[in-house]
Amino acid sequence: MSPFLLTRTLPVDATDAALRADVLHGLTRHPKTLPPKWFYDAHGSELFEEITRLPEYYPTRAEREILVARAPEIAAASGAKTLIELGSGSSEKTRHLLDALPGLHSYVPVDVSESALRGAADALLVERPDLSVHALIADFTGELVLPDTPGPRLVAFLGGTIGNLLPDERAVFLKSVRSLLSPGDALLLGTDLVKDEKVLVAAYDDAAGVTAAFNKNVLTVVDRELGADFDPADFDHVALWDRRQEWIEMRLQARRALTVKIPGLDLVVPFEAGEGLRTEVSAKFRKEGIRGELAAAGLRLSQWWTDSADRFALSLATAV
Ligand code: SAH
Ligand code: TRP
Repeated sequence: MSPFLLTRTLPVDATDAALRADVLHGLTRHPKTLPPKWFYDAHGSELFEEITRLPEYYPTRAEREILVARAPEIAAASGAKTLIELGSGSSEKTRHLLDALPGLHSYVPVDVSESALRGAADALLVERPDLSVHALIADFTGELVLPDTPGPRLVAFLGGTIGNLLPDERAVFLKSVRSLLSPGDALLLGTDLVKDEKVLVAAYDDAAGVTAAFNKNVLTVVDRELGADFDPADFDHVALWDRRQEWIEMRLQARRALTVKIPGLDLVVPFEAGEGLRTEVSAKFRKEGIRGELAAAGLRLSQWWTDSADRFALSLATAV
């Protein structure tokens, strides 16, 4: 039987305090915003898995194609004994990497979603009984305290999730990843690429409405956790391409003028008709931009792979 450990580096009430702070800050400014990590309660994590299977949502399939084709090269370049994965979710695509790394000893999935971590670990314990799995419930934008496992380390950040951070947050994040790496360690980064606007918008506004349900789930989380009276039916899901910032912006737009009560914060939030609440950006990248952002954090781009349709990229970077 392989060892499995689940460590919570966020105390239960810290999650609560962080949600309260984020909702108070985000809903009392203009334009209103909420940070994307609150999408991922158990239901949100399930909806995200559904998104990955939608015909319009190409990033998961494109990234999987690269992983399948390049896993042996990634394994040879990194020689990792520990794979740390940030925002690991279901760890589904990661299987290709886990199976290609011959000397792998430990897998450390890091996620805010406890249900996603447990689901992933349950499957891995059956499929890979040789592997030591040490799951961390943690916020990857905070300071990470990693378990003491053998090096070299490969830190993977897949799914294009880095695009959900704003540019200044990305700079801070990449520096903190850099600080986790010793000589011989590497970062494997998945980024979605700039492409035709119609393809991008469809990926975030699918015909079946799964992304709309996912976006609105954040309101359900605030209702449940803070006793708010958001009615998801009062809001429309909107996905816009911002060509200057080169990101998809996700909003929830009030269908009419309304007020929302949030007793847990002693707050009443007015919305004008048509007012938007920004719930997420998903930035799209170009190779030179990635190279520059990595360099600014003390990381050198050593390999760059794309899928056959040039939709998505995997980068391998090492500490300078
Ligand atoms: N890597 C998976 C999942 C991507 S979805 C894939 O490529 O399919 C983004 C994942 O990051 C979710 O599992 C979500 O719970 C997690 N996540 C989002 N914000 C986070 C944060 N600040 N800290 C840790 N995990 C986070
Ligand atoms: N990391 C994913 C992305 O940016 C997350 C995601 C996909 C997402 N679809 C979404 C987040 C819709 C919010 C709403 O592609």
